Amino acid sequence: MAMLIHKHTLKCLVLIAPTVSATVPKPQNARITSVNLHSIFQWDAPRFHKGNISYTVQSKSINLPGNAYKNVSTNLTLTECDVSSLSAYGDYILRVRADSENNHSDWVTVRFKPMDDTVIGPPDLEVKSESGFLHVDFRGPFAEHEHDKWSLKQYYGSWNYRILYWKKRSNTDVTSASGVL
Ligand SMILES: *[C@@H]1O[C@H](CO)[C@@H](O)[C@H](O)[C@H]1NC(C)=O
Ligand SMILES: *[C@@H]1O[C@H](CO)[C@@H](O)[C@H](O)[C@H]1NC(C)=O
Ligand SMILES: *[C@@H]1O[C@H](CO)[C@@H](O)[C@H](O)[C@H]1NC(C)=O
Ligand SMILES: *[C@@H]1O[C@H](CO)[C@@H](O)[C@H](O)[C@H]1NC(C)=O
Repeated sequence: MAMLIHKHTLKCLVLIAPTVSATVPKPQNARITSVNLHSIFQWDAPRFHKGNISYTVQSKSINLPGNAYKNVSTNLTLTECDVSSLSAYGDYILRVRADSENNHSDWVTVRFKPMDDTVIGPPDLEVKSESGFLHVDFRGPFAEHEHDKWSLKQYYGSWNYRILYWKKRSNTDVTSASGVL
């Protein structure tokens, strides 16, 4: 009789174990890669072997008090999400969590202020030599989003270009010119 109770106890322990280990770990290394206001929120998948994982991404504007989190993307299987459609002038908290069948991880948050945090890429450059003069044409950089393309100057106001040029194979005679456009 004592043996039987013992076996039964063991069985219960085995049944409890999977529930305890169903804790979903958080996504790792959440970060934003943003160039010319083209912004991708990325993270690394947590180690989780108990089932399929998907992700929920939400955003909240911190300029508007009392503003609640909104879904940016749900049921996401990729470990990234394009957040370029957030207003360039905004100041946001983005958060991501991992979802498994009937449980989810804690949120991982990242602050994102597009205008301050984006990396401004180089302009397009075209150089021509005409009658002893060097003609340098430059345009942009541009923000591109869903087939639309517009100059970043629209966001940042006046724009400074700085040009450095030197003779081939010489690092010493650097000449510089700059101008506001
Ligand atoms: C869900 O995960 C939490 C911790 O994230 C854990 O405490 C809880 O036991 C899990 N619930 C289920 C039903 O797996
Ligand atoms: C995980 O996803 C695959 C492909 O969608 C599916 O075949 C499999 O049954 C899923 N596993 C679980 C535990 O839901
Ligand atoms: C976000 O999406 C999930 C899943 O589709 C839903 O359960 C939840 O209510 C949504 N939350 C908001 C704030 O819309
Ligand atoms: C998530 O995606 C899976 C597979 O595409 C689908 O079966 C499921 O209903 C979706 N869940 C939600 C909450 O949209």
